[in-house]
Amino acid sequence: MIQNELKKAVGIKSVDLIQPHMTVGLGTGSTVYYMVEELGRRVQEENLAVECVTTSNRTWKQAEKLGIPLKKLDEVHTIDLTIDGADEIDQNYQGIKGGGGAHTREKIVALNSHQNVWIVDQSKMVSHLGKFPLPLEVNPFGSQQLFERLQAENLHPVFRVDDQGNQFLTHMKNYVIDLHLKEIKHPHLLADWLDHQSGIIEHGLFLDVVNTVIIGSDNGPKIIDH
Ligand code: A5P
Repeated sequence: MIQNELKKAVGIKSVDLIQPHMTVGLGTGSTVYYMVEELGRRVQEENLAVECVTTSNRTWKQAEKLGIPLKKLDEVHTIDLTIDGADEIDQNYQGIKGGGGAHTREKIVALNSHQNVWIVDQSKMVSHLGKFPLPLEVNPFGSQQLFERLQAENLHPVFRVDDQGNQFLTHMKNYVIDLHLKEIKHPHLLADWLDHQSGIIEHGLFLDVVNTVIIGSDNGPKIIDH
């Protein structure tokens, strides 16, 4: 199966985990796109009663068009379940997210959710994290100094640029620095170091966050409860 078909299959499958009257976090990305389409269909055709929060303006607009009831994060008490994509997942179910630059809101929503589900095609499953560049959302103020500090630590930083070659901006108008590490040997140690640097708003290491992973493979979606 081609990659998009695998993404679609896991996106559709994940909606089975949504029970009536849940508050659901909707992630961001090309796999989540299919989940939101299917959720919209079930809301419209099967009157599935849910309320949702989103992790990006992109997902908000898509969900709004489909008539999915939406709330701002501050308006909800708890989030029952969040379904999101991931860029890499290792054998211990630790992940890298932020390929789309939405990882700050994704992490806030994930850490406020009772359950987190990641939906991925099989290419995202890796033995070690790090081949996918690790995204950092950074405050533009002092970002050059931060960049140099990351260089000095041999973390191979690169400022992300958009399609036009301009500085990539997140929806909160911050920059993204990607760390080209090839392999992250100690994810918790790196996360801890990054958490202590001023100027980094959030990094894309999502450690000990996920409860369920749905992996798209040629034999159909495989559900792993972790
Ligand atoms: C957005 O910033 C990311 O964290 C996405 O969730 C992640 O990049 C997965 O996206 P795809 O499903 O498009 O691969």
